[in-house]
Amino acid sequence: MAAEKPWRDVIDADALEKNWVTRVDVGPRRLAIYDTPSGIYASLALCNHGGADLCDGYFDGHVIECPLHQGAFDVRDGKPVSAPATRNMRVFQARVHNGKVQLRL
Ligand code: FES
Repeated sequence: MAAEKPWRDVIDADALEKNWVTRVDVGPRRLAIYDTPSGIYASLALCNHGGADLCDGYFDGHVIECPLHQGAFDVRDGKPVSAPATRNMRVFQARVHNGKVQLRL
């Protein structure tokens, strides 16, 4: 079994938009960090349908709606919940530790 990736600090937890999505660039990767009532979640920021930036979309609870064609994904597991999105988006394990949002990238 492959070793688990280490946790990596990506942003101060205080810097997240409450109950919304925040864009964070980590190296060449553009990520979307979601603050929700049940915790912090993270995904790649670019929609896997047509490459739009999900951080410019509409976020409601646990669902991010893409700004370009209104496809939508559940940020908890990446599953598509509304067409034209049909493929899981790439999500990452996330947590808050010592005031920092950490991801396994
Ligand atoms: S680019 Fe996101 S649904 Fe088309």
